[in-house]
Amino acid sequence: MRFDIITVLPDLLTSPFAHSILQRAQKKGLAEIVVHNLRDYASNKQKSVDDYPYGGGSGMVMQIEPFAKCIEHLQTERKYDEIIFMTPDGETLNQEIANTLSTRGNMMILCGHYKGIDQRIRDIFVTREISIGDYVLSGGELPAAILTDAIIRLIPGVLSDETSALSDSFQDGLLDAPIYTRPAEWNGHKVPEILLSGNEAKISAWRDEQQLQRTKERRPDLLNE
Ligand code: ADE
Repeated sequence: MRFDIITVLPDLLTSPFAHSILQRAQKKGLAEIVVHNLRDYASNKQKSVDDYPYGGGSGMVMQIEPFAKCIEHLQTERKYDEIIFMTPDGETLNQEIANTLSTRGNMMILCGHYKGIDQRIRDIFVTREISIGDYVLSGGELPAAILTDAIIRLIPGVLSDETSALSDSFQDGLLDAPIYTRPAEWNGHKVPEILLSGNEAKISAWRDEQQLQRTKERRPDLLNE
């Protein structure tokens, strides 16, 4: 699976992909992440990629030309299954969307800045618009990193224990049960007795019950879906 991420702030995306699971996925050749600087596709001397909005209003708008040049250049090298624009007015990211996208091959992700991007970029090139939640960030880079992380960890072979993505919160529509590790008692706070019992069937039933309980308490909306 390959991700081509287009941004005016490529440095912002260096660290998120250089550690832990995402780094390992790239080293194993299971995921390839290439970050492109949109300014490399600006045609003016100043390398600017934004301009004032038609019709007036505050803030600058990212222009179509640099995006079009970059996207069309990448499209000469490979076919893309999705061209995703990160935006607060897109569909809200959830586990189901991450699962769907983890079956794709090549994806482009566009990061916006300033007031936004020229609508024609969205109309002409973008196949999917994704938000990471109902709040506004300064740019699409952190959302792109979050989306990429959510997808890559689902690629078979990326997690050492393949079942661990399947047992994530949300994967079965429920939140996770509480988890514990040593010591069994800390300052009088004990781990639930059942987890020390060695009785797998009982532990499994306890976890199911805890998942249901937690979901009822914290996210009843998930049970109605
Ligand atoms: N860009 C700015 N805010 C965003 C959000 N909440 N989701 C996706 N992209 C964004």
